[in-house]
Amino acid sequence: SSQVDLTSVLSVDTRYKTETHAAASAGEQVVEETQVLFEANEEFRKNALVSSTEKYEEMYKQSVEDPDTFWSEIASQFHWEKKWDVTDGKVHTENFDVRKGPIKVEWFKGGKTNICYNALDRHVEAGRANDVAMFWEGNEPGYDSSVTFGNLLDLVSQVSNYLRSVGVKKGDAVVIYMPMLVELPVAMLACARIGAIHSVVFAGFSADSLAQRILDCKPKVVLTANGVMRGTKFINLKTIVDDALKQAKQEGYTVETSVVFANEVATKKEETAWVEGRDIWWQDVIPSQSTKSEVEWVDAEDPLFLLYTSGSTGKPKGVLHSTGGYMVYTATTFKHAFDYRPGEVYWCTADCGWITGHSYLTYGPLLNGATVVNFEGVPTYPDAGRCWEIVDKYNVNIFYTAPTAIRALMREGDKPVKKHSRKSLRVLGSVGEPINPAAWKWYYEVVGDSRCPISDTWWQTETGGFMITPMPGGWPLKPGSATFPFFGVQPAIVDENGKELHGECSGYLCVKASWPSTFRTLFGDHPRYETTYFAPFKGFYFSGDGCHRDKDGYYWLTGRVDDVINVSGHRIGSAEVESALVHHPLCAEAAVVGYDHEVKGQGIYAFVTLVEGVEYSDKLRKDLIAKVRSQIGPFAAPDIIHWAPGLPKTRSGKIMRRILRKIAANQIDELGDVSTLADPGVVEQLIELRDK
Ligand code: PRX
Repeated sequence: SSQVDLTSVLSVDTRYKTETHAAASAGEQVVEETQVLFEANEEFRKNALVSSTEKYEEMYKQSVEDPDTFWSEIASQFHWEKKWDVTDGKVHTENFDVRKGPIKVEWFKGGKTNICYNALDRHVEAGRANDVAMFWEGNEPGYDSSVTFGNLLDLVSQVSNYLRSVGVKKGDAVVIYMPMLVELPVAMLACARIGAIHSVVFAGFSADSLAQRILDCKPKVVLTANGVMRGTKFINLKTIVDDALKQAKQEGYTVETSVVFANEVATKKEETAWVEGRDIWWQDVIPSQSTKSEVEWVDAEDPLFLLYTSGSTGKPKGVLHSTGGYMVYTATTFKHAFDYRPGEVYWCTADCGWITGHSYLTYGPLLNGATVVNFEGVPTYPDAGRCWEIVDKYNVNIFYTAPTAIRALMREGDKPVKKHSRKSLRVLGSVGEPINPAAWKWYYEVVGDSRCPISDTWWQTETGGFMITPMPGGWPLKPGSATFPFFGVQPAIVDENGKELHGECSGYLCVKASWPSTFRTLFGDHPRYETTYFAPFKGFYFSGDGCHRDKDGYYWLTGRVDDVINVSGHRIGSAEVESALVHHPLCAEAAVVGYDHEVKGQGIYAFVTLVEGVEYSDKLRKDLIAKVRSQIGPFAAPDIIHWAPGLPKTRSGKIMRRILRKIAANQIDELGDVSTLADPGVVEQLIELRDK
């Protein structure tokens, strides 16, 4: 069914026409546009869920004119133990305008459901117990397993019974710090089953970061593993967790139970550090649990999970998602953005430590009864052909990854790709950062053999699900553009005064009204939720991204306009890196900016002022980088440390990052006006020290 022959139709121009422009006031963000159209062939379109622009427009119109009816009809396809309340024909209430009172969003309130029940039990009850729900592919080729929907339900039930046995109740937080084993999504679903709030912390974060998150959400239990191999590298997760739990205890919060999955492929049980009374082996307590577990019916508005993400200032924010709207929205976006057809195998390379692993490795696909691939390793181990080997092994139909991975593989040439057939592939996806047209083209032509449309999905931890995305078969694609808004999403591009711009324009990307999986708050800090996202442009949700809309209405994301840096699709706050650097006793001050990086999209460029009298040295440079690795995690390590005798500041003491970005980009002749600086001489010094 999946062997559809697609041909690309170049309907605008046969050459790549490249335009560059700057987003209004985003200033430094530049997007490369290629106005070439790629269209799925007729057969693909004929069978597509949304098969034409007209069909999309009709559905889109209904979704924004009458969102209550539109989403109710979709929500009815799920199991609700009790139907939601309808007030004046409405199933949702919202206030998106700080001038009208507190920001508030509710969908399907009063309805009782359970997302785990909908993702597993519902399919088992429909006779699909023996269908494969998840193929697990280990880091080391040859290590793999598969679990059916029945197996998955049993496993989830056991974990949920265990959690109950140690006192975890509805509304309690559980922190999950695990590698990509089957047990990671299992742990998430087990929490959901009993109404506990999971907070997955990516197992690449350091002990300090983990401790900070534990102190914020105060979990009863931490679920972890003793270690993992990623490529050729061993990561001792247990010592990181031990350190984090120790730190948390010192700061006044004690985690009573830490369940440790013995990952024997990576490390030995006897070599694992142990805290008696607190630590317990997963294998000693889970398999003995009953495989029957009552479902806790929760309100649609009860919280499902917390996921910490970086902002431009301060410590990470606990983005909170609730149950009902998130369920309906992730399932629907998954289906449409990938044109998912029952029976297909879907592989998302993201880790469950990020939002993509929540919405599109776990909930979205499982809610659709899709078979997912969960890969523990890295795309380049043991060689650059690993992804395509896995695609062939499981006959993957839909493949979803990040531009950074595409660029890394593209550097290895076409050979490792061509070695494998990939004929099962039907749809490709991209997420996490703008995809540059060259990478898009390689992905399309080499990986997809010019046969598979690419869904470039724009969204965020906060949005829970896709916001701007192609629907393959629905309309022609332009490389580098996320194309059009999903059903119910009303984007607005505004200028610096918050005035909505129309037609072809560039500016700040906002959203005008709620969608079902809008995040409901920042955990424990509703005022910050309002000031960060709703105060900048009154009446709108502000995404933090710059955006251009072209003459055909296509949306082009141009990158962050705030001090968030997007490294390999991972969000890192410059303030967080700066605060890690100044933790080093010899660092007096630091300013961090992003710069264009060939593979990672953006790299981290740190300007560091040392304490008076300290000499620059390569050793100090390494120590500073090590400091960031231990404070945040290896993925946040600065790529470049630029010694700075002083930083360019205004007379009121504000660092002018605009100038630092130019220096980092080596655009010395575009520094602009430096006369407002307290000490313009600083700039000269910095330029001199570049590459020193
Ligand atoms: O800047 C945008 C970029 O990633 C940010 C969201 O990061 P995070 O919350 O970690 O979620 C990543 C996975 C959804 C956005 O503000 N971004 C994400 N997807 C795209 C993107 N930028 C351009 N194109 C995309 N498809």
